[in-house]
Amino acid sequence: MVKSLTPKLNLTPSLTPLIAHHDLNALRQTVRDFKATGQTLGFVPTMGALHEGHLELVRHAKSLCDKVVVSIFVNPKQFAPTEDLALYPRTQTADLEALMRVGCDLVYLPSPDHIYPQGFATKIDMAGPALGLESDFRPHFFAGVATVVTKLFMQVTPDVAIFGHKDYQQLKVVETLVLDLDMGIKIVGHPTRREPDGLAMSSRNAYLSQKERALAPKLYETLNALKADLINGLPVDQAIDKAWATLIAAGFGPIDYLSLRDSDTLGPVDTNTDNRRLLAALWLGSTRLIDNIEA
Ligand code: PAF
Repeated sequence: MVKSLTPKLNLTPSLTPLIAHHDLNALRQTVRDFKATGQTLGFVPTMGALHEGHLELVRHAKSLCDKVVVSIFVNPKQFAPTEDLALYPRTQTADLEALMRVGCDLVYLPSPDHIYPQGFATKIDMAGPALGLESDFRPHFFAGVATVVTKLFMQVTPDVAIFGHKDYQQLKVVETLVLDLDMGIKIVGHPTRREPDGLAMSSRNAYLSQKERALAPKLYETLNALKADLINGLPVDQAIDKAWATLIAAGFGPIDYLSLRDSDTLGPVDTNTDNRRLLAALWLGSTRLIDNIEA
């Protein structure tokens, strides 16, 4: 049964009260109440298992808007049957406490039946920045993301939504989605939060063994070395081959992609492109890591 949590949930008395809703009608009522007093609304959609990177997005949303809504929904439509939907980390109590600590105002926790009720038949299929890179390896992924993000945007009706640079292609896809469908929501990208050793924060880092975790920062290190090679004039193909060989020798693999792209379109770079991004996805044992940097 879908029901609303008691509004103003407060797990630890010293923390900010947090309104939590499972139910769409309750969410809409609270959003109406916020908007009735002229307050602006920021939104951070997540799949939970929140880490410092997510919390930084919430803090940034707080700095831009009067009220902040975070959704926690592990979206089945962006996982292929062979992927880690069942294993995906779920840490709801810790997530709610963390959201209180950063002053989130409302957390929305819909159930899969609620987002995709019987008879749900809509799919948002995108081209443009959704083509290539992730789509070559996870063909279902961006239709799943675009469909759920559209639905969440229509439910939450934010003024601003914040997405991390960590999923850089996703950010470009959402920017295009909002523009194409005239959603009137400002999309703000926020730099990747990294561990002290450079590893990009990700909920999936929890899957890494101790040995893999020690090796994982080598991805960011290699991206930076590749960037330095490009700046020093090594031709793109040679620089990428060198970085690819470094990663394989270090123990990563297979590498899904390691590519230099136009930062805006994610298309191929040419001599006129001065705004470039290096993007990578690769496996470390049974964990898939992604990362990207400006180049
Ligand atoms: O980046 C994520 O966590 C997810 O792809 C998102 C945007 C919450 C959609 O499910």
